[in-house]
Amino acid sequence: MNNLVEKINTLKKTKNAIILAHCYQPVEIDLVADYVGDSLYLSQVASKTNADIIVFAGVYFMAQSAKLLSPDKKVLLPQINAGCRMSDMLSLNQLKEFKAKNPDLTCVCYVNSTAEVKAECDICCTSSNALEIVKKLNKDKILFVPDTYLGKWVEKQLNGGVEIITYPGFCPTHLHIRPEDVISARRLYPESKILAHPECHMSVTDIADFVGSTAQIMSYVKNSNEKVFVIATEQGVTDRLKRDYPDKKIIPIKQDLVCPNMKMTSLEDILHVLETENNEIIVNPDVATRAVKCLDAMLEVSK
Ligand code: 13P
Ligand code: SF4
Repeated sequence: MNNLVEKINTLKKTKNAIILAHCYQPVEIDLVADYVGDSLYLSQVASKTNADIIVFAGVYFMAQSAKLLSPDKKVLLPQINAGCRMSDMLSLNQLKEFKAKNPDLTCVCYVNSTAEVKAECDICCTSSNALEIVKKLNKDKILFVPDTYLGKWVEKQLNGGVEIITYPGFCPTHLHIRPEDVISARRLYPESKILAHPECHMSVTDIADFVGSTAQIMSYVKNSNEKVFVIATEQGVTDRLKRDYPDKKIIPIKQDLVCPNMKMTSLEDILHVLETENNEIIVNPDVATRAVKCLDAMLEVSK
């Protein structure tokens, strides 16, 4: 492992490359990552970097967003088949049908979507700024794609001030979490705080103590004086919290809560793409010009 890490670090220097890693990645990826965080943070980094090469340890839509935001950089995805099952639920045609059924409404697009979908939407959001973005739009009614649960969670936070028509997409990993899991965690760990990602079903987010993006969940634990936390999101967050806060008790809401696509990346894959520069992300220029407007509109709000 040390040898691999050394080789990757040497190549990063010689090629002026950086490695961005989402916090659902296998935890050993952090050994070589320059930046680790949630989707919003990583897009902000990608939009500002001076590196020539960005290796994105994450899933396809994340690397594609990095390419849209940094079109003159070479963006490499260590495992080209690492997709997102939620993003796959919404094709361009399905989006067009959804918009045609609900005409003339502003369409907010969760970053977990393809560039083709982003190109047809008005503004992007991530799980950490979805509420802020929808508030800033100042509309009575909007469309939200593809995650129905994030959209419905935002609507609930706004107490009926905005009607949010959501596309019926979801994250299969987060939908494994059931309200019974929250209830039994409370029974087993009555002193705990239960922290959930907004991609969870609303029957889970309704009864969690805190709802936030992966980075928001991590900073909640960091800044809290409490000692016991139950984590209702992908295992990568639980693993990092256990590593970073050995004096706190970190409990996954259930075992094996993994996103299979996020777990495809290995250190060997990272070394391989750095050596070969294979798996480069390319976006059709016409799509890219329109899709980047959707991302830029979001970054204008979340600077
Ligand atoms: P974050 O916005 O918290 O990084 O989440 C991305 C994601 O894919 C969650 O499933
Ligand atoms: Fe997509 Fe869910 Fe995996 Fe996130 S956890 S990348 S939403 S499939």
